[in-house]
Amino acid sequence: MRLKGKVALVTGGWRGNGRGIAEGFAREGACLALADINGEGVRQTAQELAACYGVETDAVQVDVGEPAAVEAMVRQVVERFGRIDILVNNAGIMPTSPFLDLTHDLWHQVLRVNLDGAFFCSLAVAKIMAQQGGGTIINITSMAGFQAPPNNAAYATSKGGLHMLTRAMAVDLAPYGIRVNAIAPGIILTDLNRHIFEADPARLERNLVRVPMGRIGYPNDLAGAAIFLACDDSAYVTGISLPVDGGYLAR
Ligand SMILES: NC(=O)c1ccc[n+]([C@@H]2O[C@H](COP(=O)([O-])OP(=O)(O)OC[C@H]3O[C@@H](n4cnc5c(N)ncnc54)[C@H](O)[C@@H]3O)[C@@H](O)[C@H]2O)c1
Repeated sequence: MRLKGKVALVTGGWRGNGRGIAEGFAREGACLALADINGEGVRQTAQELAACYGVETDAVQVDVGEPAAVEAMVRQVVERFGRIDILVNNAGIMPTSPFLDLTHDLWHQVLRVNLDGAFFCSLAVAKIMAQQGGGTIINITSMAGFQAPPNNAAYATSKGGLHMLTRAMAVDLAPYGIRVNAIAPGIILTDLNRHIFEADPARLERNLVRVPMGRIGYPNDLAGAAIFLACDDSAYVTGISLPVDGGYLAR
């Protein structure tokens, strides 16, 4: 039980990668605060994980792009659990558009959730962690932050920005005992992309050709990396982006 007694706040915890990471943390004994814009959904997930793993859970409805709501979320978690040891900035959206059709609105929508949201959550939580004497922050970025997929300029830019925010925070927060790292997932089957692959199964085949391990990933594939970065096994690791992509970025 590598996270026994730790309190983990996971944004976008309702489903997909957030849920997969939260389940990994629960298996390692962490108390879970799950936050999501879908309040009903995240309450359900929190109840299911509490019942399944016997850990304490709480659910918070939040829009991570709204600073006042993020501060209220952090207050709620601290009131409930007394501390926050681990923050996973996982909430994210991926609407696509060819560059010439990209509206200002869509651009701001994506940057607001994927980059501003991670910044707002990190700032509010890092203040608590600094008072506690430490903690770990994990940003869920993407291989799209390294390589630009077509029709995805806003998303790729948000994830590239999050890579750099990871490094900048790692440098500034190290004196406070706060480590900041990122996980860059490859192609992970979730509701974010399921409709794309269902509409065009050949696209999945085309993408898999580029994955040396030859298979798609699942949210549970991210859990091991997140546990490593959250626990003391990675005590001397900060400022990295760890690809979890079946080798996609290696070629
Ligand atoms: N699935 C992939 O292949 C893949 C690859 C690379 C990175 N990622 C990243 O993983 C993260 C999770 O994505 P996923 O694939 O699980 O998708 P998903 O759509 O299943 O999950 C995203 C979660 O974020 C929540 N959310 C969206 N906007 C929010 C907001 N404003 N405030 C709070 N919560 C909000 C959603 O309700 C949902 O629960 C994202 O950051 C995504 O960019 C996914």
